[in-house]
Amino acid sequence: MPDWKIRRAPTLETEIKVPGDKSISHRAVILSALANGVCVVRGFLPSEDCLRTVAAMRALGIEIENPEPETLIIHGKKRVLTEPAGDIDCGNSGTTMRLLAGLLAGQPFRSRLIGDASLSRRPMARIIEPLTQMGARITAEGANDSPPLVIEGGSLQPITYELPVASAQVKSAILLASMFAKGRTSVTEPAICRDHTERMLAYYLVRPHRNDMTVSLHGGQTPESRDFTVPGDISSAAFWLVAAAAQPGSHLLVTDVGLNSTRTGVLAVLVRMGARVNEIVDDVEVGEVQGNIELRGGRLRGTVIHGREIANVIDELPILAVAGALAHGTTVIADAGELRVKETDRLTAIATNLKAMGAHVTETESGLEIHGGTPLKGAKLDSFGDHRIAMAFAIAGLFAEGETVIKNTECVATSYPGFHEVLLRIMKENREDQTHVITSLPPQGKR
Ligand code: S3P
Repeated sequence: MPDWKIRRAPTLETEIKVPGDKSISHRAVILSALANGVCVVRGFLPSEDCLRTVAAMRALGIEIENPEPETLIIHGKKRVLTEPAGDIDCGNSGTTMRLLAGLLAGQPFRSRLIGDASLSRRPMARIIEPLTQMGARITAEGANDSPPLVIEGGSLQPITYELPVASAQVKSAILLASMFAKGRTSVTEPAICRDHTERMLAYYLVRPHRNDMTVSLHGGQTPESRDFTVPGDISSAAFWLVAAAAQPGSHLLVTDVGLNSTRTGVLAVLVRMGARVNEIVDDVEVGEVQGNIELRGGRLRGTVIHGREIANVIDELPILAVAGALAHGTTVIADAGELRVKETDRLTAIATNLKAMGAHVTETESGLEIHGGTPLKGAKLDSFGDHRIAMAFAIAGLFAEGETVIKNTECVATSYPGFHEVLLRIMKENREDQTHVITSLPPQGKR
């Protein structure tokens, strides 16, 4: 994909519908595959990451029809999977690798999970440890417990486990493994992480139990086959939400988006910074709250994002750092060391790119201090192969003087195919030289 060229277009008055939620799409495929019959998944996110999970489940013997990009017909086989003929390639997707590791820990065969260069550097000890305690044999072939992973699964025993890191992927890996263990497994998290796995298990009538920070599940249950519609991804919406929040006079409506409270931290942060936000809950379908978000921009001020809030905004921190640079005053992001082990070291990537745009930023061991308010200037920036860095800095470019160029943008296909088209429309329809700007984007196809 060629470089993206972005010019200043800070004002936004528009309506956007974002593609399906990435986390929920992965889980819908895996749980439907374990169900006792056919499940139709609508609103599926046809991004590279989620398609890796589809390919993996097919390699494990599950028939999955894909009549339209956003519709899957999954023929659940009552928890029966078959040994894959070769390696399962998880590409760039940490969610695919970690969730599958949990699932494969409970299967009576050997499998090998591989990934691209970025995924091959990511830490896997966090799943190897609990899954080994449950009785699986897992070997990490890379340095420091990194992929490829060879998994020899089998009969598992339940565990009671305290997560050392706040990670929904690790929690979900343990819960998936626990479905194949005899007895009750409990996982305690240090901060509430996204709870889609628990919600979807309940929707598929496999009953998890939550008590404060602990989720428990009895093994041996089979998901009941049901249809599922994936809501829009609030992490994808976050890019446009910040674009609108940072400009007085901007007005944005995001429709049909997931409003699960373990994911809406970005809205709370933007309200603190000075945006006016309305959540309009539409429905609690398939166990997930969904609806619209209406946001009006303002003169943003700095804020502090730290502690337990970090887990709720973990994927939004790159774009919130951009919001910090556009705000007046200082924005502090602390307790966010997890960003160093994402698709790239996001703390370094954010600091590097913000500095290149003229912002004042200090990188700390587990966060950033951003002294906002200095006008951004266009620059030639790298995505570092990380989709969220590419998109966050494309938004920064809408506020910068002069041209911003983003290199290595292919990675955006891992989570948000169609992002660039929306960006182009916004640049075209929200030109600074127009006196009055009103645009209305058609929804991105019916989901
Ligand atoms: C995800 C959990 C988060 C998040 C990732 C998706 C999930 O990762 O960053 O994009 O679907 O469970 P961690 O569990 O590593 O925090």
